[in-house]
Amino acid sequence: MTSTPHIAPKAQIAETILLPGDPLRAKFIRENYFTDAAEFNSVRNMLGYTGRYKGKTLSVMGTGMGMPSIGIYSYELINFFGVKNLIRTGSCGALQENVRLFDIILALAASTDSAYGAQFLLPGQYAPCASWKLLNACASCAARLGAAVRAGNILSSDRFYDDSAEAALPWKKMGVLAIEMETAALYMNAARHGANALSILTVSDLIPARGEISAKERETAFSGMIELALETAVEVS
Ligand code: HPA
Repeated sequence: MTSTPHIAPKAQIAETILLPGDPLRAKFIRENYFTDAAEFNSVRNMLGYTGRYKGKTLSVMGTGMGMPSIGIYSYELINFFGVKNLIRTGSCGALQENVRLFDIILALAASTDSAYGAQFLLPGQYAPCASWKLLNACASCAARLGAAVRAGNILSSDRFYDDSAEAALPWKKMGVLAIEMETAALYMNAARHGANALSILTVSDLIPARGEISAKERETAFSGMIELALETAVEVS
């Protein structure tokens, strides 16, 4: 089996993969949702598993935090392992007052302050956007499950800690719903290399900080998003 610097597969990788940032969340998904699961990666402890869910073979793997990290893993999954559908299941900080803790956001598009896209030598601004196939499937799964979702523009930022307390304000004025750190690179890699990508995000913080959630709450808070992502994965597989 092909190996890359960051993925040395010990088992097959499915065409459809869920991508949480935290590798331990990948393990949680394997333990709580998959049957017949096998670990396919443990390089750098970036755990990846392939298993069965509702009759389909799916994979799940951590991506780490930030665009350099998800940029590496999504590039290798698409170009070396034939992955076609990449569904990020992540967390985000809400920017708009009407977005609440634990809300689920579908990232229609990902604005960014990162230079990740400079490599593509585009003579203007590129708008990284979700795959319609995945987004449409996810919206119908959400309707079927009765899960409330919001869809809109998000910001993929290179900074969790910004020197300026007001850094997010111009994005908020433009209606950006929330901030996270990965989606723009994922969407750009998918577009450039012919794959489908969607980010489903759960609000874990409010910006500026207005309360926090505990580790336990974080675990259960993410279950709605994980189930929605799994149903979407089944629908497109
Ligand atoms: N900023 C950036 N990324 C995040 C945040 C945040 O507040 N919360 C969860 N991911």
